[in-house]
Amino acid sequence: MMHRIPTSYVCPIIRRRSHTIGRLSMDSEGPKLRRIVVTGGAGFIGSHFVRLLLREHDCEVVNFDALRYSGNLENVRDVAEDPRHTFIQGDIRDAAQVRAAIEGADAIVNFAAETHVDRSIVEPGDFIQTNVHGVYVLAEAAKAAGIARFVQVSTDEVYGSINEGSFSETDRLNPRNPYSASKAGGELLARSYYTTHGLPVLVTRGSNTYGPNQYPEKMMPLFVTNALDDQFIPVYGDGRNVRDWLHVEDHCRGIDIVLRHGQPGEVYNIAGRCEMPNMVITKRILAILGKPESLIRHVQDRPGHDFRYSIDPSKLEGLGWTRTVGFEAGLAATIKWYTENRPWWEAIKSGEFREYYRRQYSA
Ligand code: TYD
Repeated sequence: MMHRIPTSYVCPIIRRRSHTIGRLSMDSEGPKLRRIVVTGGAGFIGSHFVRLLLREHDCEVVNFDALRYSGNLENVRDVAEDPRHTFIQGDIRDAAQVRAAIEGADAIVNFAAETHVDRSIVEPGDFIQTNVHGVYVLAEAAKAAGIARFVQVSTDEVYGSINEGSFSETDRLNPRNPYSASKAGGELLARSYYTTHGLPVLVTRGSNTYGPNQYPEKMMPLFVTNALDDQFIPVYGDGRNVRDWLHVEDHCRGIDIVLRHGQPGEVYNIAGRCEMPNMVITKRILAILGKPESLIRHVQDRPGHDFRYSIDPSKLEGLGWTRTVGFEAGLAATIKWYTENRPWWEAIKSGEFREYYRRQYSA
């Protein structure tokens, strides 16, 4: 069965009769995107996006992922047999692989990235290669193939830290670590293909995303899985740093709305409107799991640790998007998922991760 976007998601200005833009036909759901390439579709957010596309749209999905350390075919196991889903192992830095994968595609949504700030501090090379050079390779191939929509998935971290108020899309970028600098470089490069070559590029800047299938180097799954194993919880510094929390389903719906109804050349913030200091989340996780706060260990702070991220999602809300997963319900469901999917994260934590963890936390 084909699911339609609920009318609440449909922007009034695009509620109109069918017409065509280039080779794409348009209707009230935006351009008809028959074949969509999702790069990084075996990663955390990408795999949820693949599932959303197959569930809600009548389209083919080409899932293109290098399966580097955080890519995991287990994340898309439930849709592996869907005939509309094709998995291709490939790297966005490889022009020939990219050209082959995007042949006949209408759209590219680029999730492929190195994403962990702490790793970027120690080994930034891969971040520049994938998050900047990889975007260049993708954009060149998209231009040559006449791709009708190119969504570059970026991050709120490109704005840098803000003590009061929230950043909107026109604010200046001030990335302050190699990860966020590489993401800023990637999105600026992508947008330059819009102004220079007319490539229909759209950029999303999402806030801290949580949910099932997140590689347990990030705060939320690390703290949950450590607590489940009665291991110490490594809080950086005093734990007063603030992040905005967005459930992965809401993040994916936001990207999907931008893909279909966003204006090429434009940037859209996606935020959960849910800011919280790390310490509050940490204590909440322990309370839900019935674990003692004595597990908390204040460890050495991250160098250049951004104090607070805050972005205003009003522009995307103007396209009909709204957060649907409240933080308490989202956190409880996420903790339940990690509790019930031990084999998924135990396999990760016993592999490459173990060495990383030892180095990062001197554990
Ligand atoms: P993280 O999940 O790495 O996301 P980001 O740094 O991209 O926002 O970290 C979220 C917050 O949690 C951030 O303020 C850093 C903090 N943090 C810890 O306190 N301890 C940890 O072990 C990690 C990984 C993060």
